[in-house]
Amino acid sequence: MAGELSPIDTAKFVAAKRAVEFVEDGMKVGLGTGSTAAWMVRCLGELVREEGLRITGVPTSTRTAELATKVGVQTITLDEAKWLDLTIDGADEFDPDLNLIKGGGGALLQEKIVATASDRMIVISDATKKVDQLGAFPLPVEVIPFGWQTTKALMEETLAGLDVMGDRVTLRMNGDAAYVTDEGNHILDLHLHRMTNPRQVALVLNQIPGVVENGLFIDICDVVVIGHGDGRVEVNDINSGTREEDRIEFVESENMFSDLSE
Ligand code: A5P
Repeated sequence: MAGELSPIDTAKFVAAKRAVEFVEDGMKVGLGTGSTAAWMVRCLGELVREEGLRITGVPTSTRTAELATKVGVQTITLDEAKWLDLTIDGADEFDPDLNLIKGGGGALLQEKIVATASDRMIVISDATKKVDQLGAFPLPVEVIPFGWQTTKALMEETLAGLDVMGDRVTLRMNGDAAYVTDEGNHILDLHLHRMTNPRQVALVLNQIPGVVENGLFIDICDVVVIGHGDGRVEVNDINSGTREEDRIEFVESENMFSDLSE
């Protein structure tokens, strides 16, 4: 299968491959959701199968739980794990302070609970997600289905008082029906274009009745691993202030990519 990965998939894959180097034997690891996180789960599966790594994973969605089982990563619930050593997940945007927008894949609620219950959160990403200011990616907010239109109206009113560029709010759809999360809720996407104070936006949104959680991850992420299409990776640690560069050499093994061809 060598040479079949696109540059963007190579970028996601090398970020994932570098990030799993942070995982140690015996760790309890939060498993993120999305296409980049899926690479990480595959990489962990390979380490479990081929190097005997012993870990337990806490998945952040039914999708991730299914993939983890398929590739041989043992999973437990967050209630069984209680606290995690590390969570590795993707992001839709990250800023220079490593604040994030997440939830493009609809799993922000479990992702935020799991990341917050971890000693450390590592974000894996390609370089396109790096921004100076958050907001170009629509901000996902999980809301309960009851009265969601009223919640939406209250949200639009609230946004008018905040320093954001746009205030359009749309209901996430899945074909002709409203998208439903793993918790049975809906997602409203906030087209803010830019926000000067994400911390304030996050706090204010969560005050609106009907809002379960928003996709802003403030002061949660510790490290971002950025992959590039040529195999280079950058590791930025916000706590130590360090930035390392590395190159990942790899062979596209049949085992790791087997689930892709199904
Ligand atoms: C899932 O709900 C999201 O938070 C994803 O982690 C995020 O959208 C990144 O997904 P990709 O890796 O697929 O871009």
